[in-house]
Amino acid sequence: MIKTYNIITFGCAMNRSDSERIAAVLEVAGYKKAKQNQRLDLLVFNACSVRQSAIDRIYGQMGKFAYLKKKNPKFKAIVTGCILPKDKQKFFKGFDIVFNIKELDKLINFLFKEAPIKQSYQTGIKYFKIKPKYQNKFSALVPISFGCNRFCAYCAVPYTRGLEINRSSKDIIKETKDLIIDGYKEINLLGQTVSSWKDPNKKNYKFVNLLKDIEKIPGKFWIRFHSPYVLDFNDELIDFLSKTKKINNYLNLPLQSGDDAILKKMNRKYTVNQYLKVLNSLKKKVEDFNFSTDIIIGFCGETKKQFQNTFKIFKKISPTMAYIAKYSVRPGTVAQKIFKDNVLLKIKKQRHKQLTNLLRKTGKENNQKEVDKILEVLVDTWLSKEKECLGKTRNFKTVRFKSNKDLCNKFVNVRIIKAREFELIGKLNENDI
Ligand code: SAH
Ligand code: SF4
Ligand code: F3S
Repeated sequence: MIKTYNIITFGCAMNRSDSERIAAVLEVAGYKKAKQNQRLDLLVFNACSVRQSAIDRIYGQMGKFAYLKKKNPKFKAIVTGCILPKDKQKFFKGFDIVFNIKELDKLINFLFKEAPIKQSYQTGIKYFKIKPKYQNKFSALVPISFGCNRFCAYCAVPYTRGLEINRSSKDIIKETKDLIIDGYKEINLLGQTVSSWKDPNKKNYKFVNLLKDIEKIPGKFWIRFHSPYVLDFNDELIDFLSKTKKINNYLNLPLQSGDDAILKKMNRKYTVNQYLKVLNSLKKKVEDFNFSTDIIIGFCGETKKQFQNTFKIFKKISPTMAYIAKYSVRPGTVAQKIFKDNVLLKIKKQRHKQLTNLLRKTGKENNQKEVDKILEVLVDTWLSKEKECLGKTRNFKTVRFKSNKDLCNKFVNVRIIKAREFELIGKLNENDI
């Protein structure tokens, strides 16, 4: 009888990429993705610990396992991904298997044991060697590093994924070439601080060298990378970004706070001015540069004045998009140990609302600049009922336009006729198709 699985993914692009590798391993082990209402043998939770809410959702699901086991005695629940040690201990009680995502190559062995696996750390990483089961047919996720060395005071990642491990350029370039040959149009290079990547085997071969070599791969495709760290931007990288035709002219460049004292407390290592210097240089040199940012609201002790500093800087930098999060205490982090989460939830909510309202304005203003332009769009969605396509420009703006045909996976030219807060409305260039 066919064994079936399902994976629930909670986190970021890296987490989604992990799920593609988990699926690949399970399919090698003979499992098939469960169809709707089909008996389920294996349910995998790929956890995210960046905020408490995502972890709470997993605790919320644990209560259902007894019922699922009653329905199907072979049912197993697995949890992996980004899990803090404290949660891992609790998960051992509810899950059949709790394993470290870095040990994904051993999942097959795990599956044939009954007891939960005791955590063990490895230094080497075979994870990168597993060929993923890509979920998208033209936009691929390609991890280039794993973990993070930065230890921002609030962040769970260094504790869940461990220190940064870099994948070799040889591996990354091979995977990218294969994807382009298979018709992929967009490659997303992933890493927690993707820009700090360096080749583990070649001396002086840095992130910018990798980008330059990927640019040389023949074919029409775009490269995006997530998430860079502002201090990694030097003149060489910015100059290259100003010349390339394939690498995105969009970045998610997290600021986190617009107040120097808070940045210091967060252990972010840069000042607001250093951030502004990099951003201004990118805006000046990279044609049609577009960016988004990440902000944490209500970090320990954030005063009204300090929030206003963030508000002011936000207005000044004017991002098209921002991921604004209310600070959530992560057990085991430096912030949890030495600072107090003393900004009331009510205040966090108010500040969140203020900044979100500002984002609506900055988003609309930035999008307004595109009206009347003809932009190249890579189509990723076709809404057959609405007869509409959705896609992204090279600088990562969402464009919506009417089309009777499914144009997914195609580059098309679209004239922008209207700007909304978070998307552009366009008209397909008639000669284009
Ligand atoms: N490596 C990236 C961020 C990865 S985590 C960077 O250095 O910027 C993604 C985002 O989650 C962060 O940018 C931050 O805004 C948010 N985040 C991380 N920890 C958080 C916490 N404890 N509470 C609220 N938001 C958090
Ligand atoms: Fe977390 Fe900081 Fe590393 Fe980003 S750079 S993953 S915020 S520790
Ligand atoms: Fe991503 Fe969440 Fe882990 S944001 S790296 S899945 S903690």
